[in-house]
Amino acid sequence: MDAIECIEGRKSIRAFKSEPIDRALLTRLIDVATHSPSYKNSQPWEVLIISGDKKRALTERLLQLFHSGVEPSPDLVAPVHWPAAEAGRIEQMLSSRSKILGVDITLPAIVKRSKEANFNFYGAPHVIYLYQDASLSDWSLFDLGLFAQSLMLAAHAKGLATVPQAFATDYAKEVKAFLSIPEGKRLVLGISIGYPDMDAPINQFQSERAETDEIVTWVE
Ligand SMILES: Cc1cc2nc3c(=O)[nH]c(=O)nc-3n(C[C@H](O)[C@H](O)[C@H](O)COP(=O)(O)O)c2cc1C
Repeated sequence: MDAIECIEGRKSIRAFKSEPIDRALLTRLIDVATHSPSYKNSQPWEVLIISGDKKRALTERLLQLFHSGVEPSPDLVAPVHWPAAEAGRIEQMLSSRSKILGVDITLPAIVKRSKEANFNFYGAPHVIYLYQDASLSDWSLFDLGLFAQSLMLAAHAKGLATVPQAFATDYAKEVKAFLSIPEGKRLVLGISIGYPDMDAPINQFQSERAETDEIVTWVE
């Protein structure tokens, strides 16, 4: 697969087989992702990969916090308001996902189920947490985003599947304590990774994109 096929073929997968990934392959994916560019080559990325019993225990802890009504407190503040263009695209995504699942995914009971699925990491055998020193600038967040995309593309090229999850950072303080990540770090993203279960209806979903003309201004 060439780079363009890889970029266009990647999509978020939300149901995984339980089969684990060889550690050598996971290591290779991280090696590849380290080739991402970064501001002054600062490489502001730290990675924690959680699997097995510890991952199951983390899911239990997250579900416990969620079910006890503990207010999420992610290190990166969740957006509240969106400008019109972005709000419209979110609306469109929610509506087409509802269509494919045959249920309104904005209903509170479905939102609850979706949060639980997030905290269960959609059944993936591994979760990759990306974090960095909290004193770093916005540029370093940008760099970590590039790293995340490289990692997800490398995984796709190797027949693996991923989903980036802001929700995996909802209880950042607790997650960091649970995983012995120092408090001075910011937890930026969780990426569930594994082999895709392509029989699951949710994995039939294909997100759409705005027309290129909508986002490009040509100036001569
Ligand atoms: C920073 C970031 C956070 C995301 N958080 C979540 C999440 O918590 N749960 C989830 O199911 N998907 C999450 N997603 C996946 C997006 O919903 C998905 O990338 C988007 O709808 C486009 O679909 P695609 O990845 O299939 O192309 C996140 C994506 C990004 C980039």
